[in-house]
Amino acid sequence: MYKTLPSYQVSSFSNVDKASEPQEWVNYLKYVNTQESIKNYKSWFHSLLCVQNYSRILDIGCGTGEDTFAISCKLKGKSKIIGIDYSKIMVAFAQKYAQSSSRIKYVHGDVNNLKFEQKIFDLCLADRVFQHLKTPHKALQELIRVTQPGGKIAIIDPDWSTLSINNSSDLALSQRILAHQSNFIQNPSIAKELLSLFESYELQNTQIFSYTLLFYSYTVANIILSLTKAADRAEKAQLISKEDKVNWLRELNELDQEGNFTSSLGMYCIIGNKSL
Ligand SMILES: C[S@@+](CC[C@H](N)C(=O)[O-])C[C@H]1O[C@@H](n2cnc3c(N)ncnc32)[C@H](O)[C@@H]1O
Repeated sequence: MYKTLPSYQVSSFSNVDKASEPQEWVNYLKYVNTQESIKNYKSWFHSLLCVQNYSRILDIGCGTGEDTFAISCKLKGKSKIIGIDYSKIMVAFAQKYAQSSSRIKYVHGDVNNLKFEQKIFDLCLADRVFQHLKTPHKALQELIRVTQPGGKIAIIDPDWSTLSINNSSDLALSQRILAHQSNFIQNPSIAKELLSLFESYELQNTQIFSYTLLFYSYTVANIILSLTKAADRAEKAQLISKEDKVNWLRELNELDQEGNFTSSLGMYCIIGNKSL
């Protein structure tokens, strides 16, 4: 079980190494990646892509490296995968997976300025990364540059406007708290913008898919979605009173104890091909 909760600032994923406690972000991702709801969407995403059919894959913003490793286990022949992350601390953690597989390499780098030649990957994917980028256009241009003609680019991100506690007795209060939380993410609406982003760069055969993440445990949702922090922030911004905060958090705990807690977050996945 995850012991020390991070003093979670969603935006710190934009630059983990400069966060006050970078290790907390590593611990956070490690924890997130052990949760069933997260494992399920990742397995859905990887099957949608048929990752086993590619030979040169780039996993952008690979974080602690679990996905890169999971994909490598599905590869055949001489296929290889590279995980890249802007955080040297994340990359150092991920390296342990590279020791057990010759198919994987982890490198430190910025998606906005990739140190790869053009046209070398047949699949580039980014899982929950574009939401943290200051310049998503530049990042997509870089992905297109390093992708082979006909190769695939796939991006998945949450749409933070859909975050909800589904059975709170005061939905308006929940909404106020959760909507404010989006302000701490670089691009909370990027998921909804991905289609036009792909179209503006003339990617072909573009497809968009949606997935709803569901959480049935308040404890898990609180860590992953940082609900306590959201309530603190809403109170600090004077969007809710201290009493509102206390009541809301109490209700979430009660719902959990009764086995009735549910929270959801919508995600969009967009897939397209670089033109031939
Ligand atoms: C929410 S985590 C997702 C990690 C991983 N894809 C996963 O699903 O577990 C976002 C990751 O993107 C990385 N990141 C943020 N900005 C980046 C950039 N400009 N280039 C490469 N990686 C970046 C962060 O360091 C972090 O590891």
